[in-house]
Formats: sequence, C-alpha cells, structure tokens
Amino acid sequence: MMGPVLAACLLIILSTAWISQANEALCKKDGGVCSCNNNKNSVDCSYKKLTAIPSNIPVETTELRLNFNSLSNPLPPKAFHHLSKLTYLSLGENQLQALPIGVFDQLVNLTDLRLNRNQLKSLPPGIFDKLTKLTFLQLTDNKLHSLPEGVFDKLTKLTRLHLLNNQLRNVPHGAFDSLSSISNVQLFGNPWDCTCNGIIYMAKWLKKKADEGLGGVDTAGCEKGGKAVLEITEKDAASDCVSPNTTTAIPIGTMTPASVIYDDIHEIKVPQENFQKFLGYQEPDHLPTQPQCLMSISGYLGLMMSLMLTSAAILYVFHFLKKA
Ligand SMILES: *[C@@H]1O[C@H](CO)[C@@H](O)[C@H](O)[C@H]1NC(C)=O
Ligand SMILES: *[C@@H]1O[C@H](CO)[C@@H](O)[C@H](O)[C@H]1NC(C)=O
Repeated sequence: MMGPVLAACLLIILSTAWISQANEALCKKDGGVCSCNNNKNSVDCSYKKLTAIPSNIPVETTELRLNFNSLSNPLPPKAFHHLSKLTYLSLGENQLQALPIGVFDQLVNLTDLRLNRNQLKSLPPGIFDKLTKLTFLQLTDNKLHSLPEGVFDKLTKLTRLHLLNNQLRNVPHGAFDSLSSISNVQLFGNPWDCTCNGIIYMAKWLKKKADEGLGGVDTAGCEKGGKAVLEITEKDAASDCVSPNTTTAIPIGTMTPASVIYDDIHEIKVPQENFQKFLGYQEPDHLPTQPQCLMSISGYLGLMMSLMLTSAAILYVFHFLKKA
C-alpha cells in the first residue's frame, strides 16, 4: 500500500539532489577547487583558504567569487586578464595589502567589484580606469589613508560607492566630479579632517549633492567637533593642511593621539553596523566552525526526516480514510 508513495518520495528527493549537484558541480578545469554553475557561468571559490587565485578559471566566467580566502601576496598583475567577460568580482574578506597596477584593465564589462575587508593601504593610479560599466564599488573595511588623483574619473555609471571604515582624512580635489550616476555614498568610519582646507572640496560636493537628493551625504563625520563634513565651510577649515599633498599619507600620530582616533572610530561604529544590517549588507563575522557545520547539517537532515515522516503519515491516514 505504502510502496508507491514511498517510492515517489524517494524519487523526488533523489532527483532534487541530483539536479542541484548538476547545477553546482566542482569545476573540472581548475582541478576541482571551486564550484561552477555552468548555466550562469559563475564560479564560486569562496571559503577555500586559498592563498593564490586558482588557475584555469573558465574564460566564459561572468561571476567570480574569491571572497573569504587568504589571498595576501600581491596578486599577479595579469590575474584577471583572460576573464574579460566578468560582470561580478568579489575579492572581499581576504588579506590583500596592495593591488598591482592594471590588474582590472581587461574587465571592461565589470559592474560590481568588491574589495571590502582587506588590508589595502592605498590604490595604484588608474586602477579603475577601464571599469566604465561599474555600478557598485565596495572598498569598506580597508586601511586606505588616501586616494590617488582622479581614481573615480571614469566611473560615470557608478551608483554606489562604499568607503566605510578606512583612514581617509580627505579626498583629492575633484575626486567625485565624474560620478554622474551616483545615488548613494557611504563614508562612515574615516577620520575626516575638517580643520584644514583639504576638506573643502568634499564638503561642497556633499552639500550640493544633498540638495540633489544623493543618499548617504551625511555619513561623513568630522574626526573632531562632531560636525558632518557637509556642514563645513571655508571659515571652519581655513588652515593649510599639514601635507599640501592629498595623495600623501599624513601620519596619524602627528595629528592626534592615537587613542582619540580609535575612540572616535569606535563610537561611530555602532550606527554603521546597524545601518549595514538594515540594508542587509551584514556579513558573518566568523567562518562557521566544523562543529557548527556538522550541527547545521544534522539539523537539516533531522528536519528533512521529520518532514518526510509527517507527510508519509498524512498520506497514509488520507489513504486509509478514503478506503474506509
Ligand atoms: C561586453 O559586453 C558586451 C555587451 O554584452 C559584449 O558585446 C562584449 O563582447 C563584452 N566584452 C567582452 C570583452 O566580453
Ligand atoms: C606628493 O607627495 C609625494 C610623496 O611624498 C611626492 O612624490 C609628490 O611629488 C608630492 N606631490 C605634490 C604635488 O606635492
């Protein structure tokens, strides 16, 4: 009596497992390190403890995830040069300290680039110059202390720019002038220096964009004094900056005791995390440990089992009632 029902259940379960395996199989071409979804041309190499980018990533790949690895050495300058079809690239959650000049130069169709949670201290000049289709640039949680002159000049399609939690004190004059599609900026967690005139360009740009309805204009707070950068006038920031040169790092210790800066960063961290949660950007703080994985797997199996038993019971009762 139960035979056909059970067989059907089993068939459904097995075929689902088989289909998901077929869609998300290990890439053959890279020796089986990453998962490939051939229908979507996506390659997922996240959470693999990689210290180098796997070779032989298929040239037709459009989405490449390399986040949550241990990439730290400077990347080979041509790491992505054969992957010109990429529209999405994540290098987030690694240990990158620098990027080679021209590393993204072939990625002319890239729309989404994530470099968040690395150790980037600076960016090479022209690093984004070929990424004219980029709409989202994620640079959150790095150690950028300055931006190169004209770094965003070719990003006319960019809608979202995230520079949260870096060490920026100002941006080069004109840095945002080409961002004609921008709809949201996130600038929290930087020690914006509102005491010298290096901030005036950004203050004016933010003020103008606030009137035009740009989101996030109030996310840049001055390191000292509790004001938002967009409120700063030429009168507030009348002095010359310590370095006249915005592409040069100003040693933090020379301006304020380090403890003050860390306190400030600590204070503004709370609303920022809330905000990220609100937008759904929050990413897990820790990799799941093996016991956690095992627990979630056994939990999942338990759930499946009880679902199966329940449905079998319902079907059986139904069958029995119908017969009676
Ligand atoms: C970029 O995208 C366009 C339009 O989809 C396509 O015609 C072109 O071949 C792509 N370029 C590369 C280098 O893949
Ligand atoms: C900025 O600083 C760098 C490094 O100290 C120096 O090489 C460069 O000439 C400076 N540029 C200007 C405009 O002062």
